[in-house]
Amino acid sequence: MSGLPADFAIRLLRRPEEPAAVADWMAQSEPWLTLQRDRATCLKLLLTPGRELHGATAAGRVIGVLALDLHGVLNGYIATLAVHLDWRGRGVGARLMQFAEERIQRQSPNVFLCVSSFNTAAQQFYHRRGYELVGRLRNFVVPGHDELLMRKTGPPWSAFAASSFAGDG
Ligand SMILES: CC(C)(COP(=O)(O)OP(=O)(O)OC[C@H]1O[C@@H](n2cnc3c(N)ncnc32)[C@H](O)[C@@H]1OP(=O)(O)O)[C@@H](O)C(=O)NCCC(=O)NCCS
Repeated sequence: MSGLPADFAIRLLRRPEEPAAVADWMAQSEPWLTLQRDRATCLKLLLTPGRELHGATAAGRVIGVLALDLHGVLNGYIATLAVHLDWRGRGVGARLMQFAEERIQRQSPNVFLCVSSFNTAAQQFYHRRGYELVGRLRNFVVPGHDELLMRKTGPPWSAFAASSFAGDG
């Protein structure tokens, strides 16, 4: 099977059972297995206060998730991007990334994210979308693996027509 179903949509996840269901499948797949993020930790990550949690839905299920941190110096930060194993390689991640960038670029010229050093497939996915390595957080989550901070760079803050917030510094 390939492609996205006709009822594919991206919307805010507001019902508590939705992130709980996402945490179930997240915790059973990479990179969270290697990062030792169990179901409870995945759920905590998804429900971090102050983040926007969006879901990709199809056939009445949440098949992908996107958590955005839109505050602080590194806003906007893609805190979590995950697609259910059964739905990978069909364009769900690409649509969620497009959605994230459009949402973030309403308030910031930069998009930041972290990807694990062992997660080479996701690194390539981000490289192809214009993200570049800007830092390496050694042994950040578990020993032996680093987190790579990546940035998709827009114009400097001085040139960015932010309506209410002109950036730090
Ligand atoms: C990384 C991840 C989010 C990508 O999501 P995905 O839905 O598998 O990715 P997509 O299908 O959108 O895109 C993958 C590639 O397949 C291509 N593709 C394959 N079949 C496709 C189809 N039927 N329709 C559209 N694109 C398709 C896309 O064009 C894309 O190629 P590109 O990167 O050159 O544009 C997903 O694999 C995932 O959840 N991985 C595990 C969690 C993870 O690593 N998250 C990131 C942590 S930082």
